[in-house]
Amino acid sequence: MALLELDGLTKRYGGLTAVNGVAMRVEAGEVRAVIGPNGAGKTSLFHLITGVVPATSGDVRFDGNSLNRMSSYRRCQTGLSRTFQLTSLFSEMTARENCRVAAQARLRGRWQPWGGTQIFREAAARGDEALERLGLTAIAGRSAGLLSHGDQRLLEVAMALSQRPRVLLLDEPTQGLSVEETITAVETLAGLLVDGKLTVLLVEHDMEVVFRLAQKITVMHRGSVIADDVPSVVRRDPAVQAAYLGGYA
Ligand SMILES: Nc1ncnc2c1ncn2[C@@H]1O[C@H](COP(=O)(O)OP(=O)(O)OP(=O)(O)O)[C@@H](O)[C@H]1O
Ligand SMILES: [Mg+2]
Repeated sequence: MALLELDGLTKRYGGLTAVNGVAMRVEAGEVRAVIGPNGAGKTSLFHLITGVVPATSGDVRFDGNSLNRMSSYRRCQTGLSRTFQLTSLFSEMTARENCRVAAQARLRGRWQPWGGTQIFREAAARGDEALERLGLTAIAGRSAGLLSHGDQRLLEVAMALSQRPRVLLLDEPTQGLSVEETITAVETLAGLLVDGKLTVLLVEHDMEVVFRLAQKITVMHRGSVIADDVPSVVRRDPAVQAAYLGGYA
């Protein structure tokens, strides 16, 4: 059984079908990229998986359980954590505080019997651990709003990682980064994934990044999945080349 299973997942906005009957199986430990042209429905798919918007129809199952009626907050507590396409950190707070708050969102409730101080300490420890893994310990005390764009994007990954997710969803982690910042971010992400313990869904436009990080690729076009395979097969797929890859492959 796959860790994350989507079946017939559909989202309509009036007459527009943003996500159209998507089926997907993500195995534990898999790093899967979701690619496709602008407006293909990638971010909408993430919204449906994480419960940010309700699906029109279809199923999201996580570890065998249906999430269909579960709120976004509860989905996070079961182990789905994400970054947003646009920066979503608290700019007045330090990097460390951002991670602690993110970790607390996952811990709250489960740890209630032991009280607030214990949650706070545990969340702070998880946040610091995530900052360390992203190579951000040196800037942990700085206000998030004052960090470079590259460090802000990595901080968002650290925030999601602070929640110790079972599936980590990253929506264009290199968007808006310079060439140098992209190289740093990709090497940092590759380092995170090297032990194969994280399960990751990654939306990414930069095909160098996709081919560097992903073991599987799902290609979306106008809301539908047009290919789902290992990179070497997807790269050669004529429909994918026509819809997206152009001259790249
Ligand atoms: N809240 C909404 N209301 C109406 N239409 C929406 C809404 N959100 C997304 N859409 C539409 O759904 C389609 C898919 O959008 P989505 O943001 O999921 O694409 P995407 O693949 O993430 O694109 P990009 O690569 O530009 O980020 C687009 O046509 C978009 O305009
Ligand atoms: Mg998007």
